[in-house]
Amino acid sequence: ARRIWLTRHGQSEYNLTHRIGGNSPLAPAGEVYARCLLEMLINRLPLNEEQKFSVPVSVWTSTLCRTIQTARHLPFTKLRWKALDEIQAGTCDGLTYEEIAQNFPEEFAARQKDKLRYRYPAGESYLDVIQRLEPVIIEMEREKECIIVVGHQAVLRAVLGYFMAKPLESIPTLDVPLHTLLELRPRPDGTMDFEYIHLS
Ligand code: G3H
Repeated sequence: ARRIWLTRHGQSEYNLTHRIGGNSPLAPAGEVYARCLLEMLINRLPLNEEQKFSVPVSVWTSTLCRTIQTARHLPFTKLRWKALDEIQAGTCDGLTYEEIAQNFPEEFAARQKDKLRYRYPAGESYLDVIQRLEPVIIEMEREKECIIVVGHQAVLRAVLGYFMAKPLESIPTLDVPLHTLLELRPRPDGTMDFEYIHLS
């Protein structure tokens, strides 16, 4: 049966130093995750060593280096989507949440108050991200093959929220942990079964 997997990129250098945005490469633990990803997928499909190179899986990444590196060891067709890039933090790009709270306390408070609608100065809101993902979601629904989307926390919250029919307000806090595969299995009635598969 068709599967849709969502995963964040492996831990990046910026994740390690708690910085948002940027375009940093994977940290060592993220590279370990990237190397385990194929086996995690294969374990979800009953395939032998030979079949695993012919299974129809499309790999969709963002245009950022950390998702491309995470998908690097997957022997499948790859597609890069600008629309899958992480939420743009504008003037806050590259900062830690502590630095944002210190340097831009009003921005920090405004985001805490309404994370869904808050738009970073010269950047995006969750609502903006949800809107720009529309063409990706349309293609995901059209696609017949299994898809693995290697994306980012905010973007995957929006994708997960859409497929699981979550209320808009809940999207900015949905749980999308690092080093975890999110598996969606379409049910005949059009809804989805959903499971977290952690790196063991
Ligand atoms: O900036 C990147 C983060 O992955 C988004 O997380 O929306 O919870 O701040 P946040």
